[in-house]
Amino acid sequence: MTTTTKAMPAKGETILRLSQICKNFGAVSALTDIDLEVKAGEVVALVGDNGAGKSTLIKVLAGVHQPSSGTIDFMGRPASLDSPGKALELGIATVFQDLALCENLDVVANLFLGHEMSPWALDEVAMEVRAWTLLRELAARIPSVRQPIASLSGGQRQTVAIARSLLLDPKIIMLDEPTAALGVAQTAEVLNLIERVRDRGLGVIIISHNMEDVRAVADRIVVLRLGRNNGVFTPDASNQELVAAITGATENSVSRRMERKSVHAQEQTGSLT
Ligand SMILES: Nc1ncnc2c1ncn2[C@@H]1O[C@H](COP(=O)(O)OP(=O)(O)O)[C@@H](O)[C@H]1O
Ligand SMILES: [Mg+2]
Repeated sequence: MTTTTKAMPAKGETILRLSQICKNFGAVSALTDIDLEVKAGEVVALVGDNGAGKSTLIKVLAGVHQPSSGTIDFMGRPASLDSPGKALELGIATVFQDLALCENLDVVANLFLGHEMSPWALDEVAMEVRAWTLLRELAARIPSVRQPIASLSGGQRQTVAIARSLLLDPKIIMLDEPTAALGVAQTAEVLNLIERVRDRGLGVIIISHNMEDVRAVADRIVVLRLGRNNGVFTPDASNQELVAAITGATENSVSRRMERKSVHAQEQTGSLT
């Protein structure tokens, strides 16, 4: 792909692996023994009730919070994400829920905001070409890159925020509630965009409260409850199963189910790794 300059990992290769991550805030255990794996070309949905630890986990991966214990491997090597800059440099990009776009600036200006060190950043024409190329590759429905953000719909804003995070060629992109404020058509558009990002070979982590969206786009659904792992599902899981894991009505049957499925998949494909 023309805009990808760094070598991308092969589809299915593990990009990120968390083992036994704990995060305490004083006496509060926000995360306890969290394991998580994200592969190239897959969408992992992170779901859980309020206070389950989703945002804390995202912030650990974004370099905002330091874990109290546990290990993070990135591309097979131990990584310390001790600042947001370090996470970005490694290739972990985050689209936070507030999007942090400037209303009065146009799409191009917003795409390059904060990327002043990029080789194209001071050349208006080059930036516009780069903006168009990226948005076209994403099949994004933005009428003009010279339109101010204030005139765009919620879905288009989310698209701009996602496109901006792709400019640094990350290997993982994390999205916090990307469809929370959107109507049906715009939600569909953002979900399509997430699929195209995955098809570029990125690993995508999406936080969402909407089980329908999660099942539509996720390859794996990871449930957190009270700061701990509480099951991993495939998207064909029923609402009932997901809700049970989220609320704690079942503890072990969910992981057993996933194990059964992964054994089955291994039998079919030969090997997973
Ligand atoms: N900066 C903080 N200081 C103290 N406690 C926090 C902080 N951030 C999160 N927590 C606590 O950690 C737990 C997990 O919160 P959070 O990660 O925001 O959950 P979620 O995003 O799933 O709703 C909650 O009990 C919350 O109160
Ligand atoms: Mg949260």
